[in-house]
Amino acid sequence: MCGIVGYVGPKQATPILMEALRRMEYRGYDSAGIAVLNNGGIEIHKAAGKLSVLAGELEGREPVGTTGMGHTRWATHGAPTTVNAHPHLDQSGRIALIHNGIIENSTAIKKALLARGHVFLSETDTEVLAHLIGELYEGNLEEAVAAALRDVDGAYGIVVLSADEPGTLIAARNGSPIVLGLGEGENLVASDQSALLDHTRSVVYLDNGEMAVLSANSYRVRTLTTRQIDKPVNQIEWDLATIERGGFDHFMLKEIFEQPESIENTMRGHLLEETGNVRVYGLKLSDTDAKKVKRIIITACGTSWHSALIGKSMIEELARIPTDVEYASEFRYRNPIVDSETLVIAISQSGETADTLAALLEAKQRGARVLGLVNVVGSTISREVHGGMYLRCGPEIGVASTKAFTSQVVALAMVTLRFARLRTMSLLEGRRYIDALQQLPAQIQQVLDCAPEIEKLASRFDGATNALYLGRGVNFPVALEGALKLKEISYIHAEGYPAAEMKHGPIALIDENMPVVVVAPRDAVHGKIVSNIQEVRARGGKVIAIVNKNDEEISRLAEATFIVPETLDLLTPILTVIPLQLLSYYVAVNRGCNVDQPRNLAKSVTVE
Ligand code: G6P
Repeated sequence: MCGIVGYVGPKQATPILMEALRRMEYRGYDSAGIAVLNNGGIEIHKAAGKLSVLAGELEGREPVGTTGMGHTRWATHGAPTTVNAHPHLDQSGRIALIHNGIIENSTAIKKALLARGHVFLSETDTEVLAHLIGELYEGNLEEAVAAALRDVDGAYGIVVLSADEPGTLIAARNGSPIVLGLGEGENLVASDQSALLDHTRSVVYLDNGEMAVLSANSYRVRTLTTRQIDKPVNQIEWDLATIERGGFDHFMLKEIFEQPESIENTMRGHLLEETGNVRVYGLKLSDTDAKKVKRIIITACGTSWHSALIGKSMIEELARIPTDVEYASEFRYRNPIVDSETLVIAISQSGETADTLAALLEAKQRGARVLGLVNVVGSTISREVHGGMYLRCGPEIGVASTKAFTSQVVALAMVTLRFARLRTMSLLEGRRYIDALQQLPAQIQQVLDCAPEIEKLASRFDGATNALYLGRGVNFPVALEGALKLKEISYIHAEGYPAAEMKHGPIALIDENMPVVVVAPRDAVHGKIVSNIQEVRARGGKVIAIVNKNDEEISRLAEATFIVPETLDLLTPILTVIPLQLLSYYVAVNRGCNVDQPRNLAKSVTVE
């Protein structure tokens, strides 16, 4: 969601800005723009639609200048038009601003500015902020930005430049990520580390309420009221290869195929074979603290919420701790019951999802201990929690989450073991789990080796407008995830349902045109799901079943089956979800959809 980049240094800014915006395309956006300081003025180019449209506009007339900024916008206030695209100028046309987030009191500020004669071109809250900064400008951009932000409520990550202060960029953050990239004789600022990797690995993460003043040879971090604060410089561990497609047609396919390695990375160094336990220092949870936990709440959004549901089954079944799963967006507003004996686990690939962040802050404020299962190192959620675990599955670029999901489930399995071994789980059972976890990478590889079979199955969705995904027990969340993947990238309407609950509604939709995908490994509820498949068949439904080897019963009933290796019941989601990820991918490709950047979706949802 919204990409921000700024450059100040000796090189031409335009190509650097455009390349950085390309690296952030995966976040999802609907218009783009750049501003470059040129000949004592600000040259702005903007375009609705994809970056290629803006690149077309720039062809043959790239602005010349070595200080500039670029933005990809995901519309919140106002339609995704060229006029609403960023950068926005102040009244004088001498100050330009790009912004990610929402200025909540923009209507009131705009009213006051209108009364003082300001004229606005766009419908955006961002233009209001640009005008406010311009009004407060008295020859010192840094102070004008600080003063304006003191009047503003809401979330923002911004970069500002002024034609009267060439060679300076001002950045600020409150809620939306901003990271500084420190180079040799040049400095950058971005909303996303991937935009910086072409130039530097040395970064400084701004915290909420902080601002940065950047020139080619120096940078300074401050708050809205103090002139300077010390910040640590961090090193990004990824390299460029990890954010490129590496021979795959799409990032999503690459990321699906990375899963044997990515879950291996999630587990690395944590599994203790001898003691049938795990060691995760980051959780910062002593045995005494862990024993005191009376209740767990897992909160997340989207795909991460689905992994949370699997975590609930694991924790309740193996550690016997009552566990609730909450949509972060609901949890934060519903006066939740949380106390010091409640452990709250926030799950987020990006570590920036606004609702998840707000939910965890709410839980913290109510006295809960908060853990984070997060992928992006240094992200806001990872810095707000008391402890946690990085997923270490590498950058996930495809908007539809795949490898982060399997890593989240593996991380939840490890958290479960930590609690279970302190309570009810025996040494032998613990070892059995460790052994099963260790086999998963090779088992995922077996599934991936059969991807061509799934590619063939995808043709069964030709002409389909609806699909139903069914599962039971720990595979019900897998059905939800399979349906979400399909609708996200192929735009076919799909619902995930508990297989038996299907007869209370969705069964009315079943006919020979609706594919019904059933997740049915040979687990404790296998017999029950066979009956549910019969109910679908009796209505002429066409079943594609995900099964284990030699499942003759289901093979007789289903139109098609796909075999996944066997593992412990609670770990089956890590294998059964893989064919569903592949299925949605191939269906979307067959339909000519933009797999990596589906319409209207954003990778990292930094607004409410
Ligand atoms: C967006 C993404 C989803 C993701 C969800 C939660 O909607 O498109 O793929 O599952 O946000 O993101 P998080 O980064 O918090 O896991």
